[in-house]
Amino acid sequence: MSGIYLHIPFCKKLCNYCDFYHIISNDDNSAFVKSIIKEAELRRDYTGPEEIATIYFGGGTPSVLPVKDVEEILTNINRIFPVSSDAEITLEINPDDVTENYIKDLYRTGINRLSIGVQSWRDEDLKMLNRRHTGSQAADAVNIAIKAGFNNVTIDLIYGIPGLDAAAWSSNLDIAFSFDIRHLSAYHLTVEPNTVLGKMKDKGLFEEVNEEESISQFNTLIEKSETAGFIHYEISNFGKPGYFSVHNTNYWKQVTYLGLGPSAHSFNGYSRQWNIRDMRKYLKALNDGKLSFEREELDSKAKFNEYIMTSLRTMWGMDLEYIEQTFEKEGYDYVINLTRKFISYGLMKQENNNMILTNQGKMISDNIISEFMMP
Ligand SMILES: C[S@@+](CC[C@H](N)C(=O)[O-])C[C@H]1O[C@@H](n2cnc3c(N)ncnc32)[C@H](O)[C@@H]1O
Ligand code: SF4
Repeated sequence: MSGIYLHIPFCKKLCNYCDFYHIISNDDNSAFVKSIIKEAELRRDYTGPEEIATIYFGGGTPSVLPVKDVEEILTNINRIFPVSSDAEITLEINPDDVTENYIKDLYRTGINRLSIGVQSWRDEDLKMLNRRHTGSQAADAVNIAIKAGFNNVTIDLIYGIPGLDAAAWSSNLDIAFSFDIRHLSAYHLTVEPNTVLGKMKDKGLFEEVNEEESISQFNTLIEKSETAGFIHYEISNFGKPGYFSVHNTNYWKQVTYLGLGPSAHSFNGYSRQWNIRDMRKYLKALNDGKLSFEREELDSKAKFNEYIMTSLRTMWGMDLEYIEQTFEKEGYDYVINLTRKFISYGLMKQENNNMILTNQGKMISDNIISEFMMP
């Protein structure tokens, strides 16, 4: 089993918190569509004979592509790779790109999971984040998607936004769960250095919310999602039973994947590679029949650190049997010693052969994970 990630880098407007590779463009996308298909051809052997279980259109903003482009990419991916007949095929969509016709046409292409970037239902938060939609457009988008037949709709929300107080965050969650969504990704606002917010912060023009407030909002998120019937299966991800993201879960379970498009990452079990983060150079390389990427071979320590980083964030936690088999006695003993400490603090617990974070541990997951990192 393998996955394919397609990075569609176009955005119509710059959101001030975003560090994903994107270019502001309303241009014709045809050169890009040709190039990404060409890249797929050139890299057709990367995933070997494995069936492709998931395809993920991420961004940037995949929904700036006309449906015919999405269709062309999908048709070619199906031609080039052995895509499973029941593959999970996700497309990220921005609320203001949603019209009934666009969504209906998208549904016919075989996309079977829509990820809608709501972020907040409150116009003041959306303005603050420099989003290009309003809260009511976001609500319309979710309704249109569900009405068109998408029965696997997920939305993204952001908390820890200055001005979004406890009551407003609680209400944002209530509104989210009032829709028939099957999945929620909720991220704490992160101020990345190279973003507008990052630069404002450096100049003292932006202040992040305090830790106490962040933890309290995370607690509300855990409680409300559980009450609404969602399972907290990864730090930022909540799904109804049967609706966890297969694509993302596979990342966390070390399943191989091929990333196509500028800045996209790939993993084949032994190495990671990432495409050039520059649209012009990406197009030029493919036009010359070449690929432009960097690669890192993963040694045992890098594999160990990656395994801890991804597995500890999930409800399945670290599998002791896998650790013993893959990282031998040294890795196993190292993990057991550290987990003993965290269990005694009530931050971790053992379930069968797995070591997982307690709810208290989830609050400080980054600190716990960093203690596990082998230098
Ligand atoms: C690839 S991004 C954007 C997808 C789509 N273009 C959109 O804007 O909705 C996926 C999600 O990551 C989250 N995200 C991106 N940057 C973030 C940040 N700095 N802090 C918190 N969440 C972030 C947002 O919720 C966003 O919807
Ligand atoms: S959050 Fe989405 S729409 Fe905004 S700049 Fe990033 S990728 Fe583009």
